[in-house]
Amino acid sequence: MALEVVILAAGMGKRMHSVLPKVLHPVAGEPLLFHVIKTACALNAETVHVVTGHGGEMVQKRCQDLDPALYGKLSFHTQKEQLGTAHAVSCAMDGVKDGNTVLVLYGDTPLPDPALLEPLTHVPQEGMNLLTVKMRHPFGYGRIVRDAQGQVSHIVEEKDATESEKQISEVNSGILAASGATLKHYLPRIGNHNAQGEYYLTDLTGIMVADGRTVQTTVTEDEERLAGVNNKVQLADVERTCQKLRARKLMEEGVTLADPARIDIRGSVIHGKDCCIDINVILEGKVVLGDNVTIGAGCVIRNCEIGDNSVISPYTVMEDSVLKVHNTIGPFARLRPGNLLEDEVHVGNFVEVKKSHVGKGTKAGHLSYLGDSEIGKDVNIGAGTITCNYDGANKHRTVVGDDVFVGSDTQLVAPVTVEAGATIGAGTTVTRTVPAGSLVITRARPRIIENYARPVKAKKE
Ligand code: UD1
Ligand code: CA
Repeated sequence: MALEVVILAAGMGKRMHSVLPKVLHPVAGEPLLFHVIKTACALNAETVHVVTGHGGEMVQKRCQDLDPALYGKLSFHTQKEQLGTAHAVSCAMDGVKDGNTVLVLYGDTPLPDPALLEPLTHVPQEGMNLLTVKMRHPFGYGRIVRDAQGQVSHIVEEKDATESEKQISEVNSGILAASGATLKHYLPRIGNHNAQGEYYLTDLTGIMVADGRTVQTTVTEDEERLAGVNNKVQLADVERTCQKLRARKLMEEGVTLADPARIDIRGSVIHGKDCCIDINVILEGKVVLGDNVTIGAGCVIRNCEIGDNSVISPYTVMEDSVLKVHNTIGPFARLRPGNLLEDEVHVGNFVEVKKSHVGKGTKAGHLSYLGDSEIGKDVNIGAGTITCNYDGANKHRTVVGDDVFVGSDTQLVAPVTVEAGATIGAGTTVTRTVPAGSLVITRARPRIIENYARPVKAKKE
């Protein structure tokens, strides 16, 4: 039997108080829904049915940002009115094959462990599997009501529960699995006579039990991973859980974290051996670290590849850049998109680099802007060097050859070329090609006036 997954994502999320549909609120930098879709695909689902409604167009459009291999598995279904979770599942049933197993996941419950879900997909003959959770604070969840023999009898929602039912700590995760045929048979039998006037998917349990069908429960204590997001407090809780899991995974793989509670990973991290990450670092998008890479406190790194033995010092912000080995960057450096830094490059404090290719051993230690440039090997960029790459209308390139010495406070007015081995005196404005091996200097000669008398402050009347 092949697996099909139905993800409920049509709810408005009233308690979020937001114009953004609930399932698009981000956890670890991507929509709640994306986490669920990835889980569904990790379980090898043949088709992933996404039921959308509130903000449906926005949700469908956002899904186009997914990896094409995942997006290709999606099938969207519209639930015009949000009449409840059972109604939402029935909206997807047209696309479901009777003989397939259907796993229902919730778009607002992003962190279930695939290892916990896989066994659920082996459904008892004509029956159903239900995932339940023991929760210390069950408030808000549907409660699992069991008979004297401990067999599940039905589920009662918080709003419909009696005082004694509210004491039950075993709750409905919302996640269940049954065959397509079973769901198609029982969903139409669910009514909406309850406190919210909704068609509750949870009623499936009571109806199937009463009909003598097997409802098998799997109880887990992993309440953190099955927490749903209904408001911003729960969104923050789920974010913390997700970050804790990611930090733990990195440490298990050998990365040293100064404090696992103070790192945020909003994407994927690939790394070599002996990497160390200090506190308050944010890694976004696709980050690749070689061996022995050190990242200082407060760095924000997005879509970068950082080669072996590189040191990124505190408060560096970098994106879409490739750094080869033995680079030293920061503190307080800014790498904007499109850089390729060869081996042993040094980019120091308050240096901004953009769309530049910087050669091996080149150093820009302090207070500079290098944009749209091609800089050779072993170049010294003095403090305060600026590539004037923008003429107010277009961007132009600066080319600096190997072994050039750029004195402090130099302006390189692009397009311009400085050939290999040239020397630029401090304070120079370079506006045309500097030939190889030459010195260029545009500095007014100093005039000295001896015994100069400074103006004195006028006395107040
Ligand atoms: C639901 C369960 C509850 C369970 C909890 C777990 C029901 C009736 N209740 O409650 O037993 O403990 O989840 O988190 O199922 N949705 C639709 N269409 C609708 C209504 C909801 O697609 O008409 C979607 C929502 O977008 C959401 C999910 O279904 O992703 C759950 O809906 P929500 O309203 O959050 O249900 P809960 O009150 O949390
Ligand atoms: Ca919910």
